[in-house]
Amino acid sequence: CGNKIALTPPMGWNSWNCFAGEVSAEKIKRAADAMVKSGLVNHGWTYINIDDFWQNNRDSKDPSLRGDLRDKDGNIVPNARFDDMKALADYVHSLGLKIGLYSSPGPWSCGGCAGTYGYEQQDAEIYAKWGFDYLKYDWCSYGGVIDGMQDNDPYKVSSLSYKGGEDLETAKKPFEIMGDYLAEQPRDIVYSLCQYGMSDVWKWGGSVQGNCWRTTNDITDTWSSMSGIALSQDKAAPYAKPGNWNDPDMLVIGTVGWGNSHPSKLKPDEQYMHMSLWSLFAAPLLIGCDMEKLDDFTLNLLTNDEVIAVNQDPLGKQATCLQTIGDLRIYVKDLEDGSYAVGFCNFGLDIVDISYKDFEKLGISGRQTVRDLWRQKDIAGIDTQSDSFTLKVPVHGVLLYKFTPVNEM
Ligand code: GLA
Repeated sequence: CGNKIALTPPMGWNSWNCFAGEVSAEKIKRAADAMVKSGLVNHGWTYINIDDFWQNNRDSKDPSLRGDLRDKDGNIVPNARFDDMKALADYVHSLGLKIGLYSSPGPWSCGGCAGTYGYEQQDAEIYAKWGFDYLKYDWCSYGGVIDGMQDNDPYKVSSLSYKGGEDLETAKKPFEIMGDYLAEQPRDIVYSLCQYGMSDVWKWGGSVQGNCWRTTNDITDTWSSMSGIALSQDKAAPYAKPGNWNDPDMLVIGTVGWGNSHPSKLKPDEQYMHMSLWSLFAAPLLIGCDMEKLDDFTLNLLTNDEVIAVNQDPLGKQATCLQTIGDLRIYVKDLEDGSYAVGFCNFGLDIVDISYKDFEKLGISGRQTVRDLWRQKDIAGIDTQSDSFTLKVPVHGVLLYKFTPVNEM
């Protein structure tokens, strides 16, 4: 690896959680416009990523999705909702943003649209020619390839694909092939592997030139989904580093839901927890909501520069849980300047109200200033040897603090 891109986790938006199969160039443009108009662009949010359904789907009843998958020269044909991919990329670039797209190493995407199998080099070249900056490459029907079923019905193939347990070489192969072709292109293309965390992808994603890789199945906007994913991340943490990020999936905040959009079912405190944990995890931050329906609460969640700085810290460490006290889990992320981001996360259904003094369990010693990052306020100066600290953490809520050593003269 060492492609020297995505040295901090990618930040942006992805179309899947709000538009799914209803995505179009028009909606992508509007999301890009909203990224600028909302001011999010000024806080590091950069990528506008088209997920599945920009390609044709051979069997769709919807005429805007049905058509030839490739032209006579084998070039992939975008569906009728994406008449000009280069013009779309140019438009997004003209706003100062970057643009991404999606494919599968199998013959079909997860939604039964055209995949890349057999056309890897040609696809990598055309993405670069169009001006794309990010590829999400989603395993999906590749399980069918392993079984020699690539010519069969896409839905049958993709339903067979989630089997996991393939040997390591088989699991790596399609990602390696595409990684090599992307690396040959004359532009930087962030390479995002999506195979739901099978085969311990965190151990080898970097070796196939991946910049990030999904560690889980798809997230939904529920506490059990978000917290369940959060609880499973520690095993992958040692593998995160600049250019190589574990991806626990998108941010389920704001207005989400395909077709029947609704406000995220995560409660406000749960959304603080979500954003805090994804920042502590040094996760790619991909907003999954309708960008034209950003409310003030969601905007506030996404524009706190001190929280974002935890995510974007150049040291590139991923927090792990260093202590649990009942349902309170304490995550610590080492930061480049020698300070620590600490998330006191209450996964339980009772308020946590304790006096805390186990700083050595967190690896924090000496005198420290303590700053509340969500409130952007210094709240204490403590001597970790002798002082204790009152912690009040709401149900499913978080305190996100930064501990900075005080230089003793
Ligand atoms: C899979 C991925 C999702 C999304 C869909 C598209 O389920 O995990 O993130 O890309 O495919 O069909």
